[in-house]
Amino acid sequence: MMDGAPLPPPNPDLLHDALAGLTAPKKSLPPKWLYDARGSALFEAITDLPEYDLTRTETAILRAEAGRLARLVPPGGALVEFGSGASTKTRTLLDAGPHLGAYVPVDISEAFLAETATALRRDYPHLSIHPVAADFTAPVALPAELADRSKVGFFPGSTIGNLDPAIAVRLLAHARGWPDVRAFVLGIDLVKDEAAMVAAYDDAAGVTAAFIANILVRLNAEAAGEFDPATFAYRATWNVEAARIDMELVSRRAQTIRLADHEIPFEAGEPIHVSASRKYTSDSVAALVCDAGWHLDKMLTDPMDRFAVAILAPEV
Ligand code: TRP
Repeated sequence: MMDGAPLPPPNPDLLHDALAGLTAPKKSLPPKWLYDARGSALFEAITDLPEYDLTRTETAILRAEAGRLARLVPPGGALVEFGSGASTKTRTLLDAGPHLGAYVPVDISEAFLAETATALRRDYPHLSIHPVAADFTAPVALPAELADRSKVGFFPGSTIGNLDPAIAVRLLAHARGWPDVRAFVLGIDLVKDEAAMVAAYDDAAGVTAAFIANILVRLNAEAAGEFDPATFAYRATWNVEAARIDMELVSRRAQTIRLADHEIPFEAGEPIHVSASRKYTSDSVAALVCDAGWHLDKMLTDPMDRFAVAILAPEV
């Protein structure tokens, strides 16, 4: 580099995924690459936005039902959370469950996870904390220390809706196979008014747009990309047939962008699909979890049916 700054460590996995996505006929980038330290911090900011009531609504349900949810875990049992981030909502369950023996936060952002684990060890000294830095879109191996504990899965935030249905089913089926698994607590966003759904992913302050564009920033920093993020507009749309919000970056003009040794051509108006957020009904949740060996035992909803915390029981 001209100024003598050290070269950032290249990220071959990111480059590999980006090339696969950007050379396909319909361009896409995998959303798991949104969550580096900056992305995780931007995501935390999304959860406070006035337009984004998902986190507040889910938190209210978790608070109201914390006792019932914590009792799903037998004494000494483990709570295993996917996409734990700052583990903010988990504290509601940990506070209501002094009988829990272990907590396993699984997150792709290693730096964020380490900070979270330190704070949790300080605040819950009786709990055994086993952070796992992993991409949960592939099957995650649980720490060996957990073998003898009963387990309950926790996947809040409707993150399941950000996964392709086949991957979502694989994750739930994998958890169904844990030895002595007792239940799975799944947060799911429900289909509602279209304008409200779109606004939640296209906030006035532009935080979601910055979060999505962070993937271009990462390509530049970690995969020798030469994207100018200002040449892409952010767009969120409701896809009725697939019952999902699609989040895309749209090239504002025709351009060719270097990415490592490659040249990626863009037409004016051509989108890169970066993320989707699927919305559910109780029927569609029941069908999804049934394919993974679970039975939809209960839907805990807010008074306006905006969001649900689903309790899944192992189908025997
Ligand atoms: N699971 C959340 C959701 O789908 C996560 C989320 C909020 C998100 N805003 C996002 C994921 C923007 C990707 C991009 O609502």
